[in-house]
Amino acid sequence: MAQPPDLLEVRDVAKSYGAVRALVSADLTVSPGEIHALLGANGAGKSTLVKILSGALRPDSGTIAVAGREVRFSSPVDARRAGIAPVFQDPALVPHLSVADNFTLTGTDRAAVRPWLDRLELDVDLAERVNALPLALLRMLDLARALAHDPQLLLLDEMTAALPSDYADRVFAVMREWRDRGRSVLFISHRLTEVREICDRATVLRDGRAVDTHRTAEGSEARIVGAMLGERAARVDLPMAERGPAAVPGARPRLEVEELVAGRRLKGVSLSVAPGEVLGVVSLEGQGEDDLFLALAGDLRPKSGRVLVEGTPVRGRHPIQAIRRGITLVPSDRQHAVLPQRSIRENLALPLYSSMRSWGWISDRAERRAVDKAVEELEIDMRAAGQAKQLSGGNQQKLTIGRWLVGGYDVMLCFDPTRGIDVGTKHQIYRLLRQQAAEGRSVLMFTSELREVRIVCDRVVVLHDGRIVAEMPAAEADEERLLHAMHDLGPHDLGPHELGPHDLEPREAS
Ligand SMILES: Nc1ncnc2c1ncn2[C@@H]1O[C@H](COP(=O)(O)OP(=O)(O)OP(=O)(O)O)[C@@H](O)[C@H]1O
Ligand SMILES: [Mg+2]
Repeated sequence: MAQPPDLLEVRDVAKSYGAVRALVSADLTVSPGEIHALLGANGAGKSTLVKILSGALRPDSGTIAVAGREVRFSSPVDARRAGIAPVFQDPALVPHLSVADNFTLTGTDRAAVRPWLDRLELDVDLAERVNALPLALLRMLDLARALAHDPQLLLLDEMTAALPSDYADRVFAVMREWRDRGRSVLFISHRLTEVREICDRATVLRDGRAVDTHRTAEGSEARIVGAMLGERAARVDLPMAERGPAAVPGARPRLEVEELVAGRRLKGVSLSVAPGEVLGVVSLEGQGEDDLFLALAGDLRPKSGRVLVEGTPVRGRHPIQAIRRGITLVPSDRQHAVLPQRSIRENLALPLYSSMRSWGWISDRAERRAVDKAVEELEIDMRAAGQAKQLSGGNQQKLTIGRWLVGGYDVMLCFDPTRGIDVGTKHQIYRLLRQQAAEGRSVLMFTSELREVRIVCDRVVVLHDGRIVAEMPAAEADEERLLHAMHDLGPHDLGPHELGPHDLEPREAS
């Protein structure tokens, strides 16, 4: 008897953008009832393939078959009719329209989205404008919208990048449910533990070619990294940079935050960061983390409380005031940080152009040197050196980080800096963060990837319901302890860990 056809069969698909060969020869098969990982380094061609499969781009050559029949999509509507619905790497929602209008705009039946909003436990007012909502929620809305089309094949392009763990768990639950119904998911992620836990098979792209497909199992991370990075793989496990003493005892903190209240969710946070210290911030979704970072960057007006740098309050309510005091932000949403029409160089050199800091004249040569250094250290893909919008998602993220290396800041606020960054470069970013600290800068870093706390931070605070509920040295911050604190379960309920009450001491209530 003949085998039932694969749900999706991609053969030898190629796609170039001008001189950039994004896909040279992509092959991929997805079976019914399968969660299939699509992996590859930043710029490998994953999102390009997703755009082709969802009818947003046409391939230059190659064939695509759905359930055994060759298809040629000329629009996203065609793809949807064939049972394919995508969640793209960046939110595909019009910012100044309401959520409801966005659903209407894409022909999504609101009645069909409702149950998915409930299923994903999203408490959202559909009349709310998209640009008023946090990034993580937008990602979840994108997912609800895709599910509402009831696809046979769901394409998730870095759906979980920068999702807090409670949201990510809901995504995984829905993916499993989808598989149990005999449907399929193509799942793109740079978090290899997720791939191992949830995916049945994995296909790896390298430089636009499919180089490996295998069943995932315990230990397949090494195989994946090898296939993804080729010769670069050897560099992944380099030891961390030496960590110096975090803070000089008795030294004045660089950044002090006193009872800061801001936005809808930040109810009163006090913290301090010493020169040379990396302070981590972790939380579930919606605990005031966005408001904290925006308020510190001068992007959101605090209702009360103070921010001090070197003991002097930061005055004014504008990002320029914060920048003048040496505070810089790498925001959660790179779409707000990257100048899409500008060149990669211009994007990187942005801090140099700003006349806000009184650095005076900057030579071409100094600029070139600074930019070259960022490109080299972060391995920024310069094949599309024209406009920043032509870069892959991970490479755009690198631009927002590369600016650190170019500009001189004292306090760096970074929100999920390694979002969408491949494993080859992630370690480089960890190293660069530690290097920033070693040079005396202060770093406040939110991360949705809890294991990063121990890799990068000296200390970590846990936010819950707009306040800090726990603080601990990073060396003690394993994922279980962090999750416990993030749910605000209190120090008395620690289960197998034998921790004293001081270990999860709440900060003084206000
Ligand atoms: N519109 C465009 N114009 C020119 N080049 C592009 C365009 N879109 C993508 N590219 C290039 O195609 C290549 C593949 O990009 P793609 O976005 O598919 O990578 P990716 O595997 O999704 O990477 P990431 O993990 O960073 O998201 C990159 O070199 C990228 O710069
Ligand atoms: Mg991509």
